[in-house]
Amino acid sequence: MGDAAWWLRSLLFVPGSQPAMIAKARALGADAVILDLEDGVAPGDKERARRAVADALDEGFPDALVVLLRPNGLHSGLLDLDLSGAFRPRVDGICLPKCEAPAAVQALDARLRILEDRWALPRGRVRVLPMIESARGVLQAPAIARASPRVCGVGFGAEDFTADAGIPRTREGGELAWARTAVSLAAHAAGVPAVDGVFADFHDEAGLRADAAEARRLGYTGKMVIHPAQIAPVHAALAPSAEEVERARRVVAAFEEACAGGSGIAVLDGAMVDRPVFLRAQRTLALARRAQGARGGS
Ligand code: COA
Ligand code: MG
Repeated sequence: MGDAAWWLRSLLFVPGSQPAMIAKARALGADAVILDLEDGVAPGDKERARRAVADALDEGFPDALVVLLRPNGLHSGLLDLDLSGAFRPRVDGICLPKCEAPAAVQALDARLRILEDRWALPRGRVRVLPMIESARGVLQAPAIARASPRVCGVGFGAEDFTADAGIPRTREGGELAWARTAVSLAAHAAGVPAVDGVFADFHDEAGLRADAAEARRLGYTGKMVIHPAQIAPVHAALAPSAEEVERARRVVAAFEEACAGGSGIAVLDGAMVDRPVFLRAQRTLALARRAQGARGGS
């Protein structure tokens, strides 16, 4: 999965209790699947889901697909059963729900060391994507993001966050701005990508596109989805527009020309282009290459 999973645009939740959906998820074009044992699975279905997930992992997933497992959280009393029952070496990382403190990541890290020994995997191979989805978690996000070298990204879960903080949820999501920004900053300060949570109304494509575009504006490079129809709109919304790409190309060319001429500053269309402008343009081009499948598929 690499050190920074920044190329993951879409992470598709699949309930562990739905073997047919898991089978379908192998070829839907998502960059990652999250095999869920937590809130996508009814309390009475957990054991059946663990077995179904383990069977699916034994059957295999395409190499290009990143596979994450979401067990129940540290305080659920189910985490150990989930890991011992459903973990297999094909799991690239653990999506840790309702993470509220760096100690939760460290407690998971200790369990992963045991699993890696048991399955003869190199130490540190299994990555961790903590989900920040409570007021306490948001305030602890900077420490959570730096809690372990296994942390490969930080997720923000708006649904649980608003439930936890007593905040009425709107379609536009303005109420999320501060917390969503805080989680993005925490991720970037730790040098890992920020991954946005789900947009629940899977029939509302315009709402999803607006939500993903807002996430991109706040620094998110990936988004979790719940339905196959959400994958393509998320990929499109997280990619730079043709105009942005064209502008970025011109910025890079102007800056490189200025540098070749011995200056650190160019002027393009009457505006200054200095190093930070150049670096932003380079990032835009990297995102555009990602969108063209240079990494992680379509
Ligand atoms: N992964 C893989 N396949 C999925 C899927 C998913 N997350 N969601 C839907 N599909 C499949 C369906 O099985 C169906 O397949 P079919 O045409 O062969 O029958 C097809 O896509 C169309 O699905 P649709 O009928 O529109 O939706 P649905 O009513 O079957 O399912 C949900 C709607 C919300 C129940 C379903 O998308 C889902 O369970 N999503 C994940 C929810 C989850 O994990 N939540 C917890 C984390 S937030
Ligand atoms: Mg949640």
